[in-house]
Amino acid sequence: MRLIGPFKQVVTLANLPLRGKLSDEQLEIIEDGGILVDQHKIRKVGNYETLRLENPDVETEEIVGEQVALPAFVDSHTHICFGGNRSNDFAMRNAGKTYLEIAESGGGIWSSVQHTRKAAEDELLKTLLERIDFLLALGITTIEVKSGYGLDVENELKMLRIIKKAQELTKAMLVPTCLSAHLKPRDFDGSNEEYLQYILNEILPKVKEENLARRVDIFIEKSAFQPEESKVFLLKAKEMGFEITVHADQFTPGSSKIAVEVGATSADHLEATVDEGIELLATSETVATALPGASLGLGEKFTPARKLLDAGAIVAIASDWNPGSAPMGNLIAQASILATFEKLTTAEVLAGITFRSAFALRLEDRGRLEEGMKADFVTFKTGNFQNILYNQGSLKSEGVFVDGMRI
Ligand code: NIG
Ligand code: FE
Repeated sequence: MRLIGPFKQVVTLANLPLRGKLSDEQLEIIEDGGILVDQHKIRKVGNYETLRLENPDVETEEIVGEQVALPAFVDSHTHICFGGNRSNDFAMRNAGKTYLEIAESGGGIWSSVQHTRKAAEDELLKTLLERIDFLLALGITTIEVKSGYGLDVENELKMLRIIKKAQELTKAMLVPTCLSAHLKPRDFDGSNEEYLQYILNEILPKVKEENLARRVDIFIEKSAFQPEESKVFLLKAKEMGFEITVHADQFTPGSSKIAVEVGATSADHLEATVDEGIELLATSETVATALPGASLGLGEKFTPARKLLDAGAIVAIASDWNPGSAPMGNLIAQASILATFEKLTTAEVLAGITFRSAFALRLEDRGRLEEGMKADFVTFKTGNFQNILYNQGSLKSEGVFVDGMRI
């Protein structure tokens, strides 16, 4: 066993409900706290001196100076495996060009597909690991990573195999998701339905066979896949044993309903969600994931996180880090900005980037510092945990611990 501390504050997030609004008074804050770790798990969190007296023989890791500790963060939605860069899209968008004009001048998702297809595998792996390291340094130790820039058997499998390879080389836990249904690629000779059938027949069986992902995602939107064809696809993917997640209601409302109907683990984006979607999400186990990085990258409105929480939904916050709509990648900055615009409490934001986003990935062993949970936590050099969001991402983490060990 190992004892780490003392921390000025340990914010445990213990005993908070999975869904709905939270007040900051509900936060458990242990002053002068310590974290006792047994193997990879938390044995106990409590007063440091008491834990030391109770466990005189354990190895200790002393924390010097004022620091706070929190559960490590979980980013439940990223597209960080990609080739190339879309800075020109960003500049054109800001200069007033439309989606169509940007696509016609060689930008958009299709341009990332072309870059990713032609990128050498070691280059893709290297840049993926660099982005993982950036997230780890923010205190994010569980990271979902989507395919979706390959869009044919060969290249989707290439992406997912690279994500698997990255898992061997990082301490972060990666959760791969197959997003072959990101867009029908321009070189596919057939309809949307035919492309979705091709994914079901040609891609998903191989993903299963090689154990490359347990989750399937789709982009339901006017410019991508339509609601009815998507529903048929998702039900079939579910029958094959995949968990489902959906890019829903980003620009057009309606697809959150499909996400709930198919029992998706999460519906992500939701910037355009209307009352019907909010009500459906509020009574389902489908996590409503806000992606403020996409709102910031596109200059679009934020996900109505306040309304979703008030209605009782399970609200997570993720970065959506991708080369097009969300190039920033700093989940802490984004969550803090979302809080300011949507009027979220600190407890709601911290829950949204820990145990609630973990639940979006159906990982219930992390995101709270309590007995039996995975001993992943992050520390900051401050005496007051409020400074983390207050500094809007500029307060750097001091230590990141995975399975109780500093990385
Ligand atoms: O989540 N909305 C669709 N997919 C991504 C954007 C991907 C891209 O532009 O490359 C998103 O925002
Ligand atoms: Fe996305």
